[in-house]
Amino acid sequence: MKVAGIVVSARKEGNCLHCVKYCLDKLNKIGFDTLLVNFYEYNITPCSHCNYECYAEVIRNQKEECPIQDDVPKIYEMLENMDLFLFAIPCYGGHVPALYRAWNERVAHIPGKTDIFKKFEDFQRVYLRKIWGFIVIGNLTAAADITLHEILSDFYNAPPPEAILLQAREYGRVSLKGDLIEEKAVKERLDRFLNLLLKRIKRIKM
Ligand SMILES: Cc1cc2nc3c(=O)[nH]c(=O)nc-3n(C[C@H](O)[C@H](O)[C@H](O)COP(=O)(O)O)c2cc1C
Repeated sequence: MKVAGIVVSARKEGNCLHCVKYCLDKLNKIGFDTLLVNFYEYNITPCSHCNYECYAEVIRNQKEECPIQDDVPKIYEMLENMDLFLFAIPCYGGHVPALYRAWNERVAHIPGKTDIFKKFEDFQRVYLRKIWGFIVIGNLTAAADITLHEILSDFYNAPPPEAILLQAREYGRVSLKGDLIEEKAVKERLDRFLNLLLKRIKRIKM
């Protein structure tokens, strides 16, 4: 099976990258093909300065192409052949990062650029069902629970993924330092999270 680890931080290296790498290394050792996608490396812009070309068939009865030139279609193509996705997402200002919102808006509305999403329902059927896990970084005292629920709310109509919330405070650390992975208890938490994912994979294969 092929698993993609997707890092959704504004910076290149921090807790999200370390946690995803930790998980991918473990999965790789037990036979998974792995791909790391760090959003830092790409240009991802929100829906803006358009004329709802993605809904042109509904509005103007014709096909039109999204005018936004960014890396979302390219990233989606990279992910298309993967079997499952694992995201690591930080809490920013009590919410999901704008980068994640931008990605979700755009990836759900890129018909014409890939053959996969002819309509929004295809996004729910194909893309959301491949997302099996979220690692959320943030403190409950700073609204990280809201971030987690924002993320999970996208799955109201699809199987819910596994999710863990890693609070730096719980380990006496400051998340901005990006060194949570040095904590043995964090690694153990990630191991348990991976076990949950593996159980799910076994269930699907049976
Ligand atoms: C712009 C910004 C806003 C943040 N807001 C919050 C917050 O509201 N709650 C929280 O628990 N952590 C907050 N943090 C801390 C990050 O969630 C934390 O540093 C996390 O480790 C970032 O991911 P990274 O290490 O992969 O970059 C914020 C960090 C930044 C840069």
